[in-house]
Amino acid sequence: PTLTVIDHPLVQHKLTLLRRRETPTARFHEVMREVSQLMGYELTRDLPLEDRPVETPLATFDAPLLTGKKLCLVSILRAGQGLLDGMRTLLPSARIGHIGLYRDQETLTPVEYFFKVPEDIEERLVILVDPMLATGHTAVAAVHRLKDAGAASIKLAVLVAAPEGLRTFHDAHPDVPVFTAAVDERLDENGYILPGLGDAGDRLYG
Ligand code: PRP
Repeated sequence: PTLTVIDHPLVQHKLTLLRRRETPTARFHEVMREVSQLMGYELTRDLPLEDRPVETPLATFDAPLLTGKKLCLVSILRAGQGLLDGMRTLLPSARIGHIGLYRDQETLTPVEYFFKVPEDIEERLVILVDPMLATGHTAVAAVHRLKDAGAASIKLAVLVAAPEGLRTFHDAHPDVPVFTAAVDERLDENGYILPGLGDAGDRLYG
C-alpha cells in the first residue's frame, strides 16, 4: 500500500488554519477549497502525457497533452463536498459522483444513504475525497461500493488521517493509494481524530 503525505508548505499552512478552533464556517470553506486545489495538483502529478502536434502562431511541433483515462471525482457526503469544490476548479472536465455515508455514533459503523456515480466509472481514474480518515470504516465502505460499481483505478484523498484508520484502510484496499496532508496522533474514545480539526461536516456547514 502507498501513502503520500503532501508536505507542501502552502498545504501545511492552510491545514493549520483549518485546525484552529476560531476559524469561522465561511473561512473554513474558503481555505478547504484552496487546500483541495493544492492537493489536486499533487494527486494528478503522475497523469500520463502524450506528444501531439500543435500549431503555434509561428510553427508546428509535438507538445504534451493529457492522455489515458479520464477522471471521476467522488465525494463522501457531507464533508467531502469541501474538497470536491476545489478539485473541480482544477479538473473542470472530470465527472462527479457522490456517496452518502454517515457514521452511526454508537457503533462507529458507516450507514449508506446515497450512491450515484457516472455509468462509465470503470473507464475512469477515480479520486475519492473525504477530509477525515478516522476509524477508516467510511472510506473502506465507499471503496467497496465503487469497486462493486466497476471502478478499477482509485485514489483516496483526505486532509487528516489517524494511524488506526490508515492501517484499516490499507488492509482492506492495498491497491488504493492514499494521499493526506497529515497523519495525526490517534483517535479519541468517540472516534474523533486527535488533534484533528473537529467534526469536518460541522465546521464546513455550521
Ligand atoms: C466524518 C468524515 C468521514 C467519517 C470518517 O463524516 O467526514 O466521512 O466521519 O470517519 P471514519 O473514518 O471513522 O469512518 P460524518 O459521519 O461525521 O458525516 P458528515 O460528513 O455527514 O458530517
